[in-house]
Amino acid sequence: MPPLPWAAERASHQVRFDPVDRLAGELTPPPDKSISHRAAIVGAMSDGRVRIRGYLRSADTAATLEAVTALGARLVDAQPRGAGLDVELAGAGLRGADPGRAAIDVGNAGTLIRILPGWLAGQPRGRWALQGDESIARRPVDRVVHPLRRMGATVDCREGGLPPLVVEGSDLHGIEYELPVASAQVKSCVLLAGLLADGDTTVVEPLATRDHTEIMLRSAGVEVRESDGRVTVEPQRRLELRDVQVPGDFSSAAFFIVAATLVPGSEMRLLDVGVNPTRTGLLRVLERMGGDVELVDAPAPGGERAAAIIVRSARLRGTRVEAEEVPLVIDELPLVALLGAFAEGTTEVRGAEELRRKESDRVTTVVEGLRGLGARIEAAPDGFVVAGAGELQGGRIAAGADHRIAMLGAVAGIASRDGVDVDGFDAAAVSYPTFVEDLEAVGAA
Ligand code: S3P
Repeated sequence: MPPLPWAAERASHQVRFDPVDRLAGELTPPPDKSISHRAAIVGAMSDGRVRIRGYLRSADTAATLEAVTALGARLVDAQPRGAGLDVELAGAGLRGADPGRAAIDVGNAGTLIRILPGWLAGQPRGRWALQGDESIARRPVDRVVHPLRRMGATVDCREGGLPPLVVEGSDLHGIEYELPVASAQVKSCVLLAGLLADGDTTVVEPLATRDHTEIMLRSAGVEVRESDGRVTVEPQRRLELRDVQVPGDFSSAAFFIVAATLVPGSEMRLLDVGVNPTRTGLLRVLERMGGDVELVDAPAPGGERAAAIIVRSARLRGTRVEAEEVPLVIDELPLVALLGAFAEGTTEVRGAEELRRKESDRVTTVVEGLRGLGARIEAAPDGFVVAGAGELQGGRIAAGADHRIAMLGAVAGIASRDGVDVDGFDAAAVSYPTFVEDLEAVGAA
């Protein structure tokens, strides 16, 4: 099918997104990236076979499947289904990581380089070096090195706390660890190491973060105790993960939730979206801004919640996002900035310094990117402030090798007056390879 005029590829990596009249119809977003990473890792740590229905087909999650197979898990079968794969994986076992493959390439996947060391640190033998692309080389990993060392791990990274991360199997002991930054990746890493340690391991979370690891470990037979921001696991002899059904990725659906909100006359239904409350902070933010979003619960076996999300266009007012809400909307904050540009009044995000440590420094890429499209937005050390103008002119934005900035540019383009050229749009394949096709299916030029 020839590309539609509002999504015409200009140069190899530049895509133009022209304004659309409205968005209408149904869409199932691709499977959840966070849950797919965890299914492959916990599956590899398990004894026996795990069936993962709807494993995300993307660059990030391909890196995880490659890593776990290099570490001794066996890919028995993989059949395409929609934007996902039905995968059958034979685990390597909790203490069975293959010591033979010393170098692991994580690609662009921050979740992989931060969670996997939890498993490797407690192995009876082996030494592995984890490294990735240029963006990974700038992302801090000392946040997992510190707690793992406290557990007795032999683990190191480059000066400045950066990859490569080198981890050697050691005897571990349980610890109580209070997270200095609200990070689900660090929490997950410590909990996985705790399964291999002597004694209980507790992670104390000052602010709630996504709990997909806790849910997945329960499905694998682990008793995970949770109370008052404390999560505790005990040492395990074995894990048994059997069936995982991966719901649609809320963070991918979010681009369409925001697009349909901003383009007047739109009404869309997003199907089978994971709506775990530790992920859906955007819905609360949007509600305060005057958004029109409805949830209809859908069946989701395995402990995660799923729903159909019905979204209609709405006029918005500005809002404030504070630190305690940030982890629940962390990956959607670039979209909050865009919503703010279309709202009436000021939208402010604070307490979000972690945004500077994502696939790009997202305070800078969002502020510079949206300013280039005509938004009145200022950076703060820990967030940004947007003066809403009710509309956006358009222009050109650089994705900065960041998948979420690439898709932010696309949504900005279809909601803008003049359209947007996104440089480096191919970055979107890290989490949402079928984004343009999906947009073509629901957008009317
Ligand atoms: C993720 C946790 C978050 C999020 C990232 C995925 C996860 O990162 O931004 O996209 O799957 O655990 P942090 O744990 O660093 O906050």
